[in-house]
Amino acid sequence: MNFNNKTVWITGASSGIGKELAIQFAQLGARVILSARNVAKLEQLCSELNGSQHQVIPLDLAQPEQVLEYVTQHINDIGKVDILINNGGVSQRSLFLENDFSVYRQLMEVNYFGLVALTKAVLPSMVAQGGGAVVSISSVAGKVGSQFRTGYSGSKYAVVGFMDCLRAEVSNKNIHCLTVCPGSIKTAIAHNSLNEHGVAQNKAEPSIENGMDVTVAVKQMIHAIANRKDEVVIGEGISGWAPTIKRFFPGLFNRLTARTSYR
Ligand SMILES: NC(=O)c1ccc[n+]([C@@H]2O[C@H](COP(=O)([O-])OP(=O)(O)OC[C@H]3O[C@@H](n4cnc5c(N)ncnc54)[C@H](OP(=O)(O)O)[C@@H]3O)[C@@H](O)[C@H]2O)c1
Repeated sequence: MNFNNKTVWITGASSGIGKELAIQFAQLGARVILSARNVAKLEQLCSELNGSQHQVIPLDLAQPEQVLEYVTQHINDIGKVDILINNGGVSQRSLFLENDFSVYRQLMEVNYFGLVALTKAVLPSMVAQGGGAVVSISSVAGKVGSQFRTGYSGSKYAVVGFMDCLRAEVSNKNIHCLTVCPGSIKTAIAHNSLNEHGVAQNKAEPSIENGMDVTVAVKQMIHAIANRKDEVVIGEGISGWAPTIKRFFPGLFNRLTARTSYR
């Protein structure tokens, strides 16, 4: 697939995977729309990208109704969107018995309802233009469970289910739906992960620090988009193999996760 002059809208573009997606798509000649909350970081990235046709649209995914209303109202001015990448998200590192209930809402608003709202606002124009792609970044935590992630995994499993159903509904409209399930990728995700009170834990973790290089992970994501894959797992070592192990040895996998404080 040739991405030259395609428009790619990326949420969570101020950091990590989203920022690298913007850089690589711009290098491939695409026009990128950058969304997240941190406008200063988005403007800085926008000024550094190849090409000058890019755009910043600040969005807070924790306010899904506002996202839906704003984007629905402005979609004609924004213009043709060829690929929507629902990447913005937040993780969690805290135990169910210690979590405030509000942490669950916070994770679902950002990781699930924000994603559904933006997709709902953009998809009608894609259908009207005769095709496009919706790419959602779930997680290996959307395929298997582990300790410290009851809220995060719940929100990422929801994304997998949403995307499977959406694919079934719109594949006959030339809409490609790809679910990406990354394992551990070296970004700021651990620092930004919520604790039991819904506040960023602000600390590094070995699994993420030793995770896959983000440039390599994003190359694989773009390859999956170009090849119109339905779902891909992208990760090294146990973080990449976990869904396969769980699928073939579910009992063993569940016993291992109960004994492993994997972070
Ligand atoms: N890194 C990994 O190991 C890994 C593994 C599996 C899945 N993922 C998924 O990959 C995606 C990107 O994560 P990352 O690793 O790149 O982490 P990151 O470096 O922490 O980036 C997260 C991005 O999400 C944005 N975001 C967070 N809350 C938001 C909100 N309320 N509204 C709008 N944007 C928001 C952040 O921007 P602002 O703060 O500027 O809003 C930031 O750009 C996430 O969905 C994550 O769950 C990552």
